[in-house]
Amino acid sequence: MPKSEPTHQPVLIREVLEYLDPKTGQSYLDLTAGYGGHAAAILSATKAPEEAALVDRDDNAIETLRRKFGKSGALIVHSEFLSALERLAGESRRFDMILADLGVSSPHLEDSGRGFSFNAPGPLDMRMDRRQAMDAGQIVNGYSEAELADIIRRYGEEPKAVAIARAIVRARPITDTGQLATIIARAAGFRARRGKTHPATRTFQAIRIAVNDELGQLERSLPLMLDRLSAGGRLAIISFHSLEDRLVKRFLAEHSGNTYDARLKLLTKRPITASHDEIVSNPRARSAKLRAAQQK
Ligand SMILES: C[S@@+](CC[C@H](N)C(=O)[O-])C[C@H]1O[C@@H](n2cnc3c(N)ncnc32)[C@H](O)[C@@H]1O
Repeated sequence: MPKSEPTHQPVLIREVLEYLDPKTGQSYLDLTAGYGGHAAAILSATKAPEEAALVDRDDNAIETLRRKFGKSGALIVHSEFLSALERLAGESRRFDMILADLGVSSPHLEDSGRGFSFNAPGPLDMRMDRRQAMDAGQIVNGYSEAELADIIRRYGEEPKAVAIARAIVRARPITDTGQLATIIARAAGFRARRGKTHPATRTFQAIRIAVNDELGQLERSLPLMLDRLSAGGRLAIISFHSLEDRLVKRFLAEHSGNTYDARLKLLTKRPITASHDEIVSNPRARSAKLRAAQQK
């Protein structure tokens, strides 16, 4: 039986089109092209795939992008976006639109074999790019209690970070995500209640951020995104948790405003969030925040 195509419903698609405002012939850089939902909508408006570069660090996403856009003339780049931006800077390429739709995709969460989810047992992996050496197992079974507590507190904003780190170290070796989730729930003194977030949510987020250096990638890439914009070019960034959104908000504020050397005009004073209807049809959209700006 043929393998079915993994799917990912793009979030805030109408709003992304509104703020990027694609026009025929314009160039497009998608830094997290994933399964190509946003890219397809934008390229159908620009009708200029040869002016597009589609980046992703995940091999399954790249396979799908190649199938969908491989023959169109779009440049498809299997890399994390920091290196991709450095490469594009080396080629002096600029873009009329740049999109970063951060975080993991639905197929990441749905495939228990990738280890992103605490809902089904899977390996301690969590790498978006499986060519990378560092995985969740190295953190969970190798980091000191203090290092673990620091990651869980900083990247998960978890108030019980110290107790969870201690429980993880005592339970070693931990072999899978199911075992890890149980250890976290016990350490957090969790009693299941309907509608309550799973107690492992914050810790899993923290480990995932550390494995993939998600905040480091974003922080170092933001200035490079700005440099890759053409005159009048538009940048849109969708984040899914407050740590990312804070970095984006601060960066955009720093480069916009009324000073003579401000390079950006803010297009969104407040972050744009999903409508009730979108959240009902795609619960992932619940925490999405879109910010956009335009090169002056
Ligand atoms: C939310 S999904 C994007 C979905 C996409 N907009 C679509 O319509 O299908 C995020 C994607 O970004 C990729 N990703 C996350 N961080 C990345 C990074 N630093 N560099 C490159 N790709 C990254 C993930 O592998 C994932 O495929």
